[in-house]
Amino acid sequence: MTSQHHLVIITGANRGFGASLAHSYVLHSEANSISFVLVGRNHSGLEKVLTELQQITSVNVTVKGVVVGNVDLSNIETLDTNLARIQIAANEMRQKAVETKNIITKSVLINNAGSLGDLGKSTKEFTWQEARDYLDFNVVSFIGLNSMFLKDTLAALPKEQYPDHKTVIVNISSLLAVQPFSNWGLYASGKAARDRLLGVVALEEKANNVKTLNYAPGPLDNDMQADVRRTLGDKEQLKIYDGMHKSGSLVKMDDSSRKLVLLLKKDDFTSGGHIDFYDE
Ligand SMILES: NC(=O)c1ccc[n+]([C@@H]2O[C@H](COP(=O)([O-])OP(=O)(O)OC[C@H]3O[C@@H](n4cnc5c(N)ncnc54)[C@H](OP(=O)(O)O)[C@@H]3O)[C@@H](O)[C@H]2O)c1
Repeated sequence: MTSQHHLVIITGANRGFGASLAHSYVLHSEANSISFVLVGRNHSGLEKVLTELQQITSVNVTVKGVVVGNVDLSNIETLDTNLARIQIAANEMRQKAVETKNIITKSVLINNAGSLGDLGKSTKEFTWQEARDYLDFNVVSFIGLNSMFLKDTLAALPKEQYPDHKTVIVNISSLLAVQPFSNWGLYASGKAARDRLLGVVALEEKANNVKTLNYAPGPLDNDMQADVRRTLGDKEQLKIYDGMHKSGSLVKMDDSSRKLVLLLKKDDFTSGGHIDFYDE
């Protein structure tokens, strides 16, 4: 088997779906060597996840990695500094790959970190200030990180020199990106914007072996869903989410993250498209 070495950057990797994704990547991707860059606010949480990944023994995958903690992607004042820290960490992994002659065959950025916004409010109650705060985190920093990642990856692994290298950008999206529901104004706007940006990138960078995917993981049985049940102002939807919670039909994080990793492995998805956990 030819060696498959992936550089995998995940935001919000300390807990929730991001941590589940990191585990699934080790367990189910085609890589036999993975260099992780785990990004988030909680440094010790990220370190714990990286240690767990390195202790997985059920598959024969070499796991290396670095954590970039104390990264608050909602703070625009520190965004340049934090992007530079992520850039340095990724370059460190690329440099090690060169030194050990373990060439990177795929570079993957998974934009997982995200927030709900105030689900207690309908659109007429939003202030532009809270809209700006919401979009700073969920859209502006997303664009900044994706631009940097693309520029750096294409410069470090140019197609002329590395024709087999692939680049993949994933947006952890939502049904709300393609279907509106009451009280989700900020969340739906943010997810739709992220989806569309990756649609554009898919066209712009097709010739550079870049693919993008917007993946909606389904209603997950986790902290964010608990926040939805606690804060959502729309009673009809609340009844549905409560019912799913009580009947145990919320999606298990590991089932959804495995589905995403297998989609990436199969690599026959339409670049720039939107795929939901429930599809097929
Ligand atoms: N849960 C669902 O049912 C569901 C459904 C559809 C889509 N999604 C999407 O799935 C993704 C992961 O969400 P989740 O369900 O795992 O939610 P979660 O349990 O609330 O986790 C959110 C992650 O984002 C990080 N984060 C939050 N604010 C941040 C900030 N300002 N800067 C950097 N990182 C920050 C969190 O880190 P901290 O520990 O530092 O807070 C955490 O790692 C999100 O994009 C979400 O929209 C979730």
